[in-house]
Amino acid sequence: MSAAPNGASEVGKAGGASEPTVLDLGLPQPVRDPALPDRVRIHEVGARDGLQNEGALVPVEVKAEFVARLAATGLRTVEATSFVHPKWVPQLADAEELMPRLAGLPAQYPGLRLPVLVPNERGLDRALAHHATEVAVFASATETFARRNLNRSADEAMAMFRPVVERAAAAGVPSRGYLSMCFGDPWEGPVPVEQVVRHGLALLEMGCVELSLGDTVGVATPGHVNTLIDAFTRSGAPVERLAVHFHDTYGQALANTLAALRSGVTVVDASAGGLGGCPYAKSATGNLATEDLVWMLNGLGVETGVDLAALTATSGWMARHLGRPSPSRTVRALLGPAD
Ligand code: HMG
Ligand code: MG
Repeated sequence: MSAAPNGASEVGKAGGASEPTVLDLGLPQPVRDPALPDRVRIHEVGARDGLQNEGALVPVEVKAEFVARLAATGLRTVEATSFVHPKWVPQLADAEELMPRLAGLPAQYPGLRLPVLVPNERGLDRALAHHATEVAVFASATETFARRNLNRSADEAMAMFRPVVERAAAAGVPSRGYLSMCFGDPWEGPVPVEQVVRHGLALLEMGCVELSLGDTVGVATPGHVNTLIDAFTRSGAPVERLAVHFHDTYGQALANTLAALRSGVTVVDASAGGLGGCPYAKSATGNLATEDLVWMLNGLGVETGVDLAALTATSGWMARHLGRPSPSRTVRALLGPAD
């Protein structure tokens, strides 16, 4: 490791870490649950939500290899990076260098989508200049987090996103809308369901094709998840346009995901190896680990298209680069003793 400009350490270059071994147990034994969808689309956020919160600065070639490896596991939506202000998220300040390294992947993996986060028109300009084909804006259901994460009120942030979404659509680029702090806020406490629905509908109405309901600090529980999704669908939001984004701070992410699937949601955000957090919400730990999600969905007979062994090997490889074990229970259980 070497010292990086902001005091974080720089991890090794691509190829520096050897390949981990992954156990093949022939498990879990699939037992179908008829209340669940046949297929779930995983929106992989490890390269963005995961790496944005790492103390280590990951070299751009390691990031490019990480995204390529994620695509090779069968994941078809791999969030690549963010075009935010580089001072706000130095870990992703290399977005311009990363994008050209990913340019060949969609031809190699048909159907692969590589969305990027953009907070404003400046971010959109940067993303379009680097041929992004999908973007995501990120709003907050609470005032405090809007101020901390976007330096403006929640409504001012919405006003900032509207031209982004409209200009992206005019360029043929769909926008996803994230909404943070949907289930509770570390500064404001409980967040009224109606307040969350009001902000979420605003994102859909401005033209976001999908709304990802964020449990930024991992405080949701399954009944709350059902209540929020029901409130959205009763307010006219089609369940097909909803996604869920659970951080796993209190160990509830998988239970919350199952609740969301039972409510009709079929798009789930997850992060390879459980990497992640949010630099502007101290209590946000990693996202739901993609491997833990795939293990559960394999057991429930729900299709994801993801090769769990390849994904586990990828997270083991990244854990070696980062110099710490993956927080994913499934990764830890399936990796050989050397990891
Ligand atoms: P600001 O300081 O208010 O920006 O930051 P501004 O509009 O006043 O502009 C100030 C300067 O920044 C200007 O430069 C702009 O050009 C420049 P100057 O004229 O002074 O030379 N600037 C930019 N430069 C590069 N790229 C840009 C950009 N925008 C302005 N995009 C801003 C406002 C939104 C930019 C800032 O607050 C920011 O970048 N925030 C991002 C924070 C972030 O990325 N957080 C993590 C992602 S959200 C998350 O993780 C939650 C999620 O996972 C869901 C969940 O878990 O809940 C999605
Ligand atoms: Mg997040």
